[in-house]
Amino acid sequence: MRYVILISGRGSNMESLLDAGLPGICAAVISNRPDAAGLALAAARGIATSGIDHRGFAVREDFDAALATEIERHAPDLVLLAGFMRILSDGFVRRFEGRLLNIHPSLLPAFPGVRTHAQALAAGVRLHGCSVHFVTPALDGGPIIAQAAVPVLADDDAASLGARVLVEEHRLYPRVARWFLEGRLQLVAGRTQLRGETPVAGSLHVPRAD
Ligand code: GRF
Repeated sequence: MRYVILISGRGSNMESLLDAGLPGICAAVISNRPDAAGLALAAARGIATSGIDHRGFAVREDFDAALATEIERHAPDLVLLAGFMRILSDGFVRRFEGRLLNIHPSLLPAFPGVRTHAQALAAGVRLHGCSVHFVTPALDGGPIIAQAAVPVLADDDAASLGARVLVEEHRLYPRVARWFLEGRLQLVAGRTQLRGETPVAGSLHVPRAD
């Protein structure tokens, strides 16, 4: 199986995926930012990279079409959004639906969008975390596959809380990618189907708070 990773920045989730020994080949790392630090990290590992600058496209759909063409060039079975900070048009999503995953740094459906850790602190939640989901046209709204939860501590700020969530992101995303690449995870009629794991909608990992 072949997979492509899409990034916009440092690519820490990309690195954890590449270090996980997934049962497949990373055919390329692609970014909407030619200067994304993660591109250099991928290239240093001998992985094909390309940057398609979204600022070069006046129309969102034109960028998405160029991105989709570049992705298809690598004939991936799976496309992983990893710190990819672009909203994708419906046409793009429908082209890859069912083989397009994203990791979002909150326990969806809580706190969609950006600045999720600040949202969690403002809401006063005691549990926060990350979600891996299939991408559908609904922003941050696709069927959830798995989640990992972390405690919110009294002295947390967005940085300390985000760092605690990121540790779990780096554990959860490779686990879900492996399920897909092993052919055990599918999107069927808008719902996630996972074979050979605990029969819940996703998996919950709540590390000890102390
Ligand atoms: C991560 O919190 C990820 O969940 C969000 O962007 C942040 C940075 O990701 N989508 P990365 O370090 O570039 O993988």
